[in-house]
Amino acid sequence: MNWTLEQFDPTQREFIEDPYPYYRKLREEDPVHYYAPFGSWWLTRYKDVSMVLSDHTLFMKQPPTQLDEVPSPLQPDLQDLNEIPESMLFLDPPDHTRLRSLVTKAFTPRVVENLRPRIEEIVRSTIHSAKSISNGKFDLMTEIAFPVPAIVIAEMLGVPIEDRDTFKGWSARIIKGLDGTQPPGVLMDAAKADLELANYFSKLIEQRRRNKQNDLLSALITTEEEGRKLTVGEIISTCGLLLVAGHETTTNLIGNGIRALILHPDQLKLLREHQEFMPMAIEELLRFESPVQRTARFASKEMKIGDKTIGKGAGVITLLAAANRDPSVFANPENLDITRKENPHVGFGKGIHYCLGAPLARLEAPIVIRMVLEAFPDLKLGEGKAQWNSNTVIRGLKSLPVEFN
Ligand code: HEM
Repeated sequence: MNWTLEQFDPTQREFIEDPYPYYRKLREEDPVHYYAPFGSWWLTRYKDVSMVLSDHTLFMKQPPTQLDEVPSPLQPDLQDLNEIPESMLFLDPPDHTRLRSLVTKAFTPRVVENLRPRIEEIVRSTIHSAKSISNGKFDLMTEIAFPVPAIVIAEMLGVPIEDRDTFKGWSARIIKGLDGTQPPGVLMDAAKADLELANYFSKLIEQRRRNKQNDLLSALITTEEEGRKLTVGEIISTCGLLLVAGHETTTNLIGNGIRALILHPDQLKLLREHQEFMPMAIEELLRFESPVQRTARFASKEMKIGDKTIGKGAGVITLLAAANRDPSVFANPENLDITRKENPHVGFGKGIHYCLGAPLARLEAPIVIRMVLEAFPDLKLGEGKAQWNSNTVIRGLKSLPVEFN
């Protein structure tokens, strides 16, 4: 690699296409790297990432001091957003604990497992339409990886399916806002999308209050913890989080995963011959091509990580995807090995913010991958280079052209 640590720049096309050599160099040469344009510390070693995620009192979601003197970055027409509380993903205890336990009540393993037949039905119908419209060629992202998780989370929440394209648009704009490497216009647009989504959910909540249904939205309205219900603002931010998380991440586990399998024919063959390896394969794909590449915390006090002093309030970026390829934890980390037994990857995070939707992703992704492999016994990559989204937090493909006979 012909770049120096000072030149590290995650906005470059080369990084977006293949960030792993960059992570490796950072981990080997400067595992606690100060990235000046962000003013934050980028951690690439498994032990550091794991330590930060596990200690929610030292490393918090909110900066330790309220930055009241900083004017709101939002334009006047977006100020309403300040009224909507943060979702649990951006909160610390005790608010995080209260919100998470309320949502967990509505998002039980039984609710998730009961979705199995419906998910299979959705996948069957997307595969059917991919086969019928195509001439042996289709875009796996458009036809299968995008629609399946979107339909599942929409049905689960109780969002009308006719609005699917609208909320897919909001979701795509909002996740761009999670990526601090995006230009200010994109971040502003993400804030606008947040507001539009909030307005949409506030109307839907009104309807559900009058007319309860058998869906997550109605459950969030009625569920209580120690006599306290969620406020309307909390329901809005929770629905927004679930909708966005439910859309973008599983889609990319499916897309990144199927691409990685096709690029590793020995592993694909093994999986076709041994369906019982599927759960291990899913964990390995989460490790190898992590859909969520990084997350962030703030240091609650001055401390040392490795030989670096991290100031109070400094941003700490935990590169999950780099930790997932740390050779001190994973043997031959650059190899895709669907039979890997020891696989303590941090693809779903760790600690109190560990992914709430992990059981749903672990249900959906194997169903999709199994049914795609069965439906297309000779699936190949189509022509053209894979186009990655420019988002450096959520790694995923814009399109994945595939062919079959
Ligand atoms: C392959 C799919 C998925 C991946 C890789 C993934 C990854 C993650 C990660 C890394 C975090 C922790 C972030 C942090 O520590 O800052 C997280 C949190 C979360 N995820 Fe997922 N996720 C996936 C699917 C889903 C789905 C399907 C849902 C819901 C429908 C979901 C809902 C959430 C929620 C609500 C949180 C916040 C939990 C908290 O703050 O306590 N995720 N996810």
